[in-house]
Amino acid sequence: MRRRGERPGHSATTAHFQAAYPFLGMGGLGAPGVYVGTDAFGGAWAFDPWELYARRIMRSPNVIVLGGISYAKSTLIKTYIYRQYLFGRQAWVIDVKGEYGPLAAALGFPIIRLEPGGEVRLNPIERRGGREGQLALLRSVALAALRRDLHPEEDAALRVALDQVNEEAGVFEPTLPMVVDVLLHPREAMVAGVSAAGGAEFAAAARDVALALQRLCDGDLRGIFDGPTSEGIDLEGALVVLDLSAMRDSDALAVLMTCTAAWQQAILRERKESADRAGVPMAKVFCVFEEVWRVAGNVGVAEWLQANFKLCRALGIANFVSLHKLTDFGTAGADGSRAARIAQALVADAGCTVIYRQSPDQREVLRTDLGCSDTETELATRLEIGEAIWKIGSRSMLVRQRMSRAERSITYTDEQMGVIGAAGTP
Ligand SMILES: Nc1ncnc2c1ncn2[C@@H]1O[C@H](COP(=O)(O)OP(=O)(O)OP(=O)(O)O)[C@@H](O)[C@H]1O
Ligand SMILES: [Mg+2]
Repeated sequence: MRRRGERPGHSATTAHFQAAYPFLGMGGLGAPGVYVGTDAFGGAWAFDPWELYARRIMRSPNVIVLGGISYAKSTLIKTYIYRQYLFGRQAWVIDVKGEYGPLAAALGFPIIRLEPGGEVRLNPIERRGGREGQLALLRSVALAALRRDLHPEEDAALRVALDQVNEEAGVFEPTLPMVVDVLLHPREAMVAGVSAAGGAEFAAAARDVALALQRLCDGDLRGIFDGPTSEGIDLEGALVVLDLSAMRDSDALAVLMTCTAAWQQAILRERKESADRAGVPMAKVFCVFEEVWRVAGNVGVAEWLQANFKLCRALGIANFVSLHKLTDFGTAGADGSRAARIAQALVADAGCTVIYRQSPDQREVLRTDLGCSDTETELATRLEIGEAIWKIGSRSMLVRQRMSRAERSITYTDEQMGVIGAAGTP
């Protein structure tokens, strides 16, 4: 029975509420996950891409993290890995700035440092990646190094060169110098394989890709990818950090990242196969690609990112890709770059986009490519450090991430602390 003065509740659509409130966020999504921080209503925001994917809330477990310098993108990823570790989740990080050392130390794992003349060598065309994996690596590296699409003859040359090298290597692992050698000095069987008129014609057609791959063996990346993988690298740990910081400003960074990611993919593929054979589930792995903005304009990089996004379900991995803004990939549109079009596809393939502070010139991209409402778009240009809009399908949450005192030491980045101290932030 209705009491005097009581009125029936008012119903309205979320579209109407959006008009009434400056920002409308929803609470947690009802799936278990680790704590990230608080949502717009002060409730806990917990997140786990696999749980949300299993419930069909995320359409893929991949996450894109966008945000200006120092708005706490890396902090999110580091604290997230740290917290997920307790639940048996693992992480592979390609660390371009060399900033994951404190996290690795806190969890008790060594970092693997890749540098010219260093002690660690990775063979990106090991057989464990499968022929398709080997070929994808050769293509991506050639694309990344040449910064253009491959001609059909170049594509074919890589294919036959790989087959030749796999055969010639016999019981040993094929290596990149072997691929370069057969591209520059094609064997007769290879020439027939691509219907070239002769060895000279084949070598001429394959020359650019051969030289691109040769740079990995003789150029500034010498000693990193040009032989069998070094013995004794610990890849079984729950955290594997590949530190590329020695090459962070090199123009070979795109090639370096491509090779490292391909090698990592081969290992994960092998792990998955052996887990399947043993009938046990493979540990869930986050693959973290930070600082992608440095190499995002490179079509080879855009392609391997896309391939990695597509592999997530097959391998049980969740990719975390961080960059400053979507236009780091270039501008899309009819006359835009291919990398930018791939970036649009990446956003479409990502199950979650985490948007930290964006500059006002990103308003159009936020609306059209990231599907932000006008309110979200304005908010995105005013977010404070540690605040982000999490977009998962049609849902949006405003989240303020929180970190414990212990975590402060693993997220501390020296160069930025001066700024934060000056601003008076604790
Ligand atoms: N909520 C917060 N309040 C205060 N400081 C924070 C907060 N979150 C992160 N920080 C600190 O801000 C600094 C910068 O954070 P972080 O390295 O995560 O930024 P970033 O977005 O990854 O920047 P970049 O684009 O340069 O990589 C770190 O020292 C971190 O400890
Ligand atoms: Mg960072």
